Amino acid sequence: MYIFAIESSCDETAAAVIRAEDDKITLLSNVVSSQIEIHALYGGVVPEIASRAHCEAISNVSREAVETAGISFSDIDAIAVTFAPGLIGSLLVGVSFAKSLAMTLNVPIIPVNHIEAHVAAAYLENEDLKPPYLALVVSGGHTSLYEVSDYATFNEIGGTRDDACGEAFDKVGRVMGLPYPGGAAMDKLAAQGMELFDPKAKNALKFPSPAVADDTLDFSFSGLKTAVINYIHTEKQKAKSDTLPDEKRCEIAAAFTRTVCDGVTKKLAAALKSTGTKTLVMAGGVAANSHLRKAVGETCAKYGVKFIVPSLKLCGDNAAMTAAEGYYMYKLGMTADLSLNAFASDEAAEEYMDSLRN
Ligand code: KG4
Ligand code: ZN
Repeated sequence: MYIFAIESSCDETAAAVIRAEDDKITLLSNVVSSQIEIHALYGGVVPEIASRAHCEAISNVSREAVETAGISFSDIDAIAVTFAPGLIGSLLVGVSFAKSLAMTLNVPIIPVNHIEAHVAAAYLENEDLKPPYLALVVSGGHTSLYEVSDYATFNEIGGTRDDACGEAFDKVGRVMGLPYPGGAAMDKLAAQGMELFDPKAKNALKFPSPAVADDTLDFSFSGLKTAVINYIHTEKQKAKSDTLPDEKRCEIAAAFTRTVCDGVTKKLAAALKSTGTKTLVMAGGVAANSHLRKAVGETCAKYGVKFIVPSLKLCGDNAAMTAAEGYYMYKLGMTADLSLNAFASDEAAEEYMDSLRN
């Protein structure tokens, strides 16, 4: 069967086509139109501008995905769409477009949770991957650990109590003067900083851990974010300049990134031990971070756990991952009717998913 998918939860308008048969998925097209340049002017995503940009791009992105796949719209057997969580105005554009198309083509519509889709990106490159496994989602909106017991059953066993990991990367990046979103640029600066500065040195820069100091599997990134931002402000005052020297920026990026990696792997190790899982899937935009990929890979190796992480192009938002999750949901009979709505929050998304299961 051919599944056409739409993703518009934040600032990428994306469409993709997969061919799926007997659990074998072939990705035929994966088109992503990014709004980053527009939002970079404001230092972050402006929700109304995002909705308008989705509205403008969605038809052409969809047409390109279908043409690149070498099929016609009439060949589509089902439509998967991200319905939650995310920016409500952005989600509504994708959901409304997908519903119109499903109605016109008279095919089922599959409502996909964005977080589950991030994890499902791993199926596209790992044919043998099957639940159960443990998933670590690190993105602009989430930092969570899930026990994935079935293709559409995610049980959150740990999560952030405040900011998400990607949010911390972006906010620290912004105060350092990096263009939005700062994550990828921080990755490069940290690499330079790690070469220049020894973390074991007596005067090494240290920040508070995002691993909550109790026996839960929870994270908290706001203390770390605030500590780093305060440090940057103090350094700027000391330097009597609004821009820090390159070497200082590298040192901060390295210390911040190391603190993130240590905190995430600390809770991950506890989760690996308590669940006894044999496989870990890491997913989401921050899964593209080279230092985190290395640190999480090493933690998994230490516990004899297979580590799976999507290639870089499938870590950020895209619709190929939505199509993959959509396929497994379709097989479970989890389709929606045309009254489908979009939801901003995780809670509303879960409630709706439960209603599909019953
Ligand atoms: O999954 P995603 O594309 O969107 C959400 O669902 O939130 O994640 C976006 C986040 C942004 O915060 C961005 O800065 C971060 O992923 N990101 C990175 C890297 N590449 C993207 N963070 C750290 N290192 C990277 N290489
Ligand atoms: Zn995402």
